[in-house]
Amino acid sequence: MFNVFVSRQLPGKGLDKLKSSCNVTVYPPDQNISKEELLTAVKDQDAIITMLSDPVDEDVIKAGNRLQVIANYAVGFNNIHVDAATSRGIKVVNTPDVLTNATADLAWALLMSTARRVVEGDHLTRTGQFKGWEPELLLGAEVYGKTLGIVGAGRIGQAVAKRAVGFGMPVLYHNRTRLPESIEKECSIRYVNLDTLLTNSDFVSLHCPLTPETKHLIGERELELMKPTAVLVNTARGPVVDERALVHALKNGVIYGAGLDVFENEPALHPGLSELPNVVLTPHIASAGMETRFRMVDMVVNDVLAVLESRRPQNLVNPEIYHKEEI
Ligand code: GLV
Ligand code: GLV
Repeated sequence: MFNVFVSRQLPGKGLDKLKSSCNVTVYPPDQNISKEELLTAVKDQDAIITMLSDPVDEDVIKAGNRLQVIANYAVGFNNIHVDAATSRGIKVVNTPDVLTNATADLAWALLMSTARRVVEGDHLTRTGQFKGWEPELLLGAEVYGKTLGIVGAGRIGQAVAKRAVGFGMPVLYHNRTRLPESIEKECSIRYVNLDTLLTNSDFVSLHCPLTPETKHLIGERELELMKPTAVLVNTARGPVVDERALVHALKNGVIYGAGLDVFENEPALHPGLSELPNVVLTPHIASAGMETRFRMVDMVVNDVLAVLESRRPQNLVNPEIYHKEEI
């Protein structure tokens, strides 16, 4: 029997599939595991299924004396020290693709609700302040025909861009590497540098992974480049935005508003952020569509079984591991 540790209770019954060949331990408290507990828990495990909030750093990886695979229940894997895993021959897998549409949908939900002040309107209505139709009640930013800027045009960025067709929006994108022309055509997107994107977009939506290069990609200078009427949407990772600079910009009318699903020091919010009327805040729920979260369980389970049964997993983050084995 293999030992598998799961750091959080997962939706549905997908984990049952592991139980015929593995001793499965699920971290019992319904809260995020600490690094100390993870250090102890990883010992003698053949596989661990981790959450994006778990710090799977070098210490944890070293403590995994039998570890063969780390399966992150997320597409983003900035919480894992992948190089440390690779150098120890440990496979890292994640859950791409299944959550692309759910995430793109939430990016649009934040874009629309920030632009059209849906949350302010909901609050006003449910607190009895709606006294009848008014010509100037909650005037907001219009979406149709405006320019959308996508930062990070991977699967999710492309899915967000495709949804812009119905809104008649020209779409600019910036990506570490320019996409093939066929994809640019398919998504009707135009490649520009980041400054051009920020200067010309009415809505800027972030879809890049968090890496040392993208930390604080959007800071004071970048916010200053944006239009005072522009909305920033972040469903990627909090630290891509300098949250202190963002709060300052939102307070001082440097930009119009922001729709945020992720935060720099999650779950903490930068002081002042939650008091601002021109932000819509959601608690990192972009992939939280019902079908998506069930399918993500199946994905991590299938890839854990693949590794334990010496098959190649579907969603390997560190494929270079195979070259290493061959050498
Ligand atoms: C969510 O943020 C994920 O990376 O899956
Ligand atoms: C994530 O899956 C992305 O590539 O955008």
